Amino acid sequence: MPALICPLCRLPLVRDSNTWRCDNRHSFDVAREGYVNLLPVQQKKSRDPGDNPEMVQARRDFLQAGHYGPLRDTVIERLQALAPAALLDLGCGEGWYTGAMAAVAADIVGLDIAKPAVRLAAKKHPGITWLVGSGASLPLADASVDVVCSLFSPLPVAEMQRVLKPGGSVLVARPATDHLWKVREGLFGEVQAHQPEKFLPELQTAFELLEQAEVRFPLHLTQATLKQLLAMTPYVWKARPERRAALEANESFETEAAFSVMVLRKPG
Ligand SMILES: C[S@@+](CC[C@H](N)C(=O)[O-])C[C@H]1O[C@@H](n2cnc3c(N)ncnc32)[C@H](O)[C@@H]1O
Ligand SMILES: [Zn+2]
Repeated sequence: MPALICPLCRLPLVRDSNTWRCDNRHSFDVAREGYVNLLPVQQKKSRDPGDNPEMVQARRDFLQAGHYGPLRDTVIERLQALAPAALLDLGCGEGWYTGAMAAVAADIVGLDIAKPAVRLAAKKHPGITWLVGSGASLPLADASVDVVCSLFSPLPVAEMQRVLKPGGSVLVARPATDHLWKVREGLFGEVQAHQPEKFLPELQTAFELLEQAEVRFPLHLTQATLKQLLAMTPYVWKARPERRAALEANESFETEAAFSVMVLRKPG
């Protein structure tokens, strides 16, 4: 597996039964569910950073039902072509995509700043290295992974560049311009198009863009799945409560999911 480093002093971490330790005697216990918390309080900007337990559970329920299956298939297909030995899923959430990555890489690290998400992921998918940690200061050694995935998650360019081996790749998924257009129309009336390319200029300071593809498919939602989708979506809290309630009153709902999947490469 990729070498871990101490989040406090950046020295290598060595596992000693159920504890990871560095030479400065910083130590981190493996939790009962099998994950390690490598997020020191100093790196926390709030008490419970990242997605809250309700968002995590809604995402688990929605993804588990397979609504985003075509996107997961595309991600796995692209990863298969890259044939990584070691892979980091940065901002892995509750691990629905990460679990499927076991088919294409031997060593997988799933990292998220939200402990409830990592806990749920670790319970479901043993055999993956699950870490609570921050993308802003990754607890991984320099040049230790072949691919970094960031699916709807932060893109800390300098840290991604540091942990990637020369010639390694980045796989990014973002909502495409008109993703869930009808849902957003219901919530906000006037919809602002997503800008999946917004992050490209910064990414291209470190990586070269190899491919950009669009994945789109219809979503047939029941009232319950529409509610899950709204509960897992970060921008929903910006909507007026009465608009959200009116949308949630629909017994069924048809919309379209649209994603942009990008593959970039760190020069070798
Ligand atoms: C929209 S969710 C996507 C989760 C997962 N990749 C998926 O598609 O199901 C974004 C995730 O990024 C995590 N996150 C936010 N800030 C982070 C940071 N600084 N470092 C690591 N993860 C972070 C959140 O906790 C959340 O799980
Ligand atoms: Zn240390």
